[in-house]
Amino acid sequence: MAKVHQLPPEVISKIAAGEVIERPASVVKELMENSVDAGAERVEVEIKSAGKELISVRDDGCGIGPEDMDNVFQRHSTSKIAKAEDIYMVGSLGFRGEALYSIASVSDVLLQSRTRDNDAGWEIHLRGNKRLKSAPAGVSYGTTLEIRELFFNTPARRKFLKSDTTETNEIIDVFMPYALLYPGKEFKLVSNGKVLLELEKHDSHRQRMAAALNLESKNLIETEKIFPQERLNIHLVLGNINLQRKRRDMQFIFVNGRPVSSKDISFHVNQAYRLLMPDGVNPIFSVHLRLPQENIDVNVHPAKREIRIKDERNIFLLLRNCCEHALMNISPARQFGQQISSFHFNGEPPHSPGVNTPHPRASGEKEDRTAESGKPYRVRSEFPFPSGGRPPAMERQNVFSQEESAMLLRKEEIAAEKNEDLKSTLKSARFIGSLKKKYLLFESTASLLLIDQHAAQERITYEKLSRQMATGKVEIQNLLAPLTIRLNKKEILAWEILKEKLEKIGFSTTLFDKETVAVHSHPALLAQPEAAVRDILCDEESKIYDTDMLARRACRQSLMTGYDMKAQEAEYLAEELLKCADPFTCPHGRPTVVEITMLSLDKNFFRRL
Ligand SMILES: Nc1ncnc2c1ncn2[C@@H]1O[C@H](COP(=O)(O)OP(=O)(O)OP(=O)(O)O)[C@@H](O)[C@H]1O
Ligand SMILES: [Mg+2]
Repeated sequence: MAKVHQLPPEVISKIAAGEVIERPASVVKELMENSVDAGAERVEVEIKSAGKELISVRDDGCGIGPEDMDNVFQRHSTSKIAKAEDIYMVGSLGFRGEALYSIASVSDVLLQSRTRDNDAGWEIHLRGNKRLKSAPAGVSYGTTLEIRELFFNTPARRKFLKSDTTETNEIIDVFMPYALLYPGKEFKLVSNGKVLLELEKHDSHRQRMAAALNLESKNLIETEKIFPQERLNIHLVLGNINLQRKRRDMQFIFVNGRPVSSKDISFHVNQAYRLLMPDGVNPIFSVHLRLPQENIDVNVHPAKREIRIKDERNIFLLLRNCCEHALMNISPARQFGQQISSFHFNGEPPHSPGVNTPHPRASGEKEDRTAESGKPYRVRSEFPFPSGGRPPAMERQNVFSQEESAMLLRKEEIAAEKNEDLKSTLKSARFIGSLKKKYLLFESTASLLLIDQHAAQERITYEKLSRQMATGKVEIQNLLAPLTIRLNKKEILAWEILKEKLEKIGFSTTLFDKETVAVHSHPALLAQPEAAVRDILCDEESKIYDTDMLARRACRQSLMTGYDMKAQEAEYLAEELLKCADPFTCPHGRPTVVEITMLSLDKNFFRRL
């Protein structure tokens, strides 16, 4: 092996730059973070040829004084931390003092800046970290960085850059989280002279998310919960059941104001949605966690996208609980007609007139975005397609005109808002049979109604049980001989924690032996007490649930699976369902009734154009 020797500085700088700056999007990320750290109210990003020719980031932040202009390009030079301990208390997005150094090592950089207390600005021009010019400049407050010829001296890196469309989309991917994180700031993204996205100030995360991702805000739920003991704040913006994506491309996670990627957090939030969404589709959400700075470590990776959280398990459970709670309590009925009609739309989903049309990507690599459209950047949003995120090719006939589709959609939206209409339709509908011992079919004058018999029974049982719990009069079924249920270690531990809460919802239980619990009574409403108890105890999260949540879980098994309902029973079920306060979703957020209008059916059979 050759002798060990120290590498020359220019090689070291290229290696270091390689860790931080992988592609144009990494530059955009670092410069946007600096702008945000500088307290900017407005951040404008401009790119040419996907950042390969130019990346410019302009802000109106605190600026850099002439005396610091050279320093900012030195390795490990930062104004954000001073001591080793600061790393663990860092509140800014940057702190390593290597971004500008790395960028300047592999590109041609022009920095122009002016602080509030300087009458004039200053500019400095570097190429491969060599200073070419340093002079006064007539610029306004704030900072502009222009990066040209990225990787000019590292041809291997340059060669591996992907197509302009891919690189532009990467840039959009890094731009978006900051836009979502700071609804109170203005953001603009321009590509090759065209405005892709321009966001004014917004009052809430929900409004910002709707505007940035081109979603209807009525389909977003915003909620916040504070856990004083854990010093944890969970702020959620959750897409409801009507927003489904083929990919997880609209899921954002922020911890202490930092966009992060966390498989665990993503897993728990996605799991919460599994209660209401079928497999194969993904929800839209943005999760903001705030916890004491000393409980997180952001210094895991140079790009700072990974973090470590102290006592993460507990935090994940609280998060999941919050998500489930929000989704179960606020989720509206599924707008089914919309999905059927959207399959038949000229290659584009229906949209309201006046709203900018979402454009598919030029390359079709990811179906949801455009990089090159002449219109403000919009993301194709909430229209679920059966596969591949697009309508099947054979169905791309112009069955609906654009106006018809928009009209249909509006009609359906109005219909969904008026659950009352659905109630009266169901009231007058006639039972015509059942499908696969799962769905009850009712015919009305203008539609076919499908009731999910299990979901409906769960809703009925849950509301009755809740009423009984609220009045302290849970109807109890006492058992002559106790029902014994063998449990595993985890379930026994769960039972020990939960036995008092179980008592409140009507289950009287004792320990029979080391691994068996005896049930002496149960809520009379529950047909399958054993299944209900098992369902509650097997779920680790149930330990942190309140009695209402346990009641929801208990109702899960309120009807035997595959039960063949007779006409009278089906009609009775529909009547009971109509008596519920919230008849059209089950306690876990799934729809209980789906209405398919004759109009949709006729269109699907090409009986109407
Ligand atoms: N847009 C800006 N406005 C004001 N000051 C800036 C701006 N960009 C950079 N700076 C200053 O330059 C310094 C160096 O920036 P650089 O991005 O290299 O490091 P950092 O942000 O401190 O840490 P990191 O490498 O983790 O990003 C910053 O600490 C900050 O003082
Ligand atoms: Mg920085």
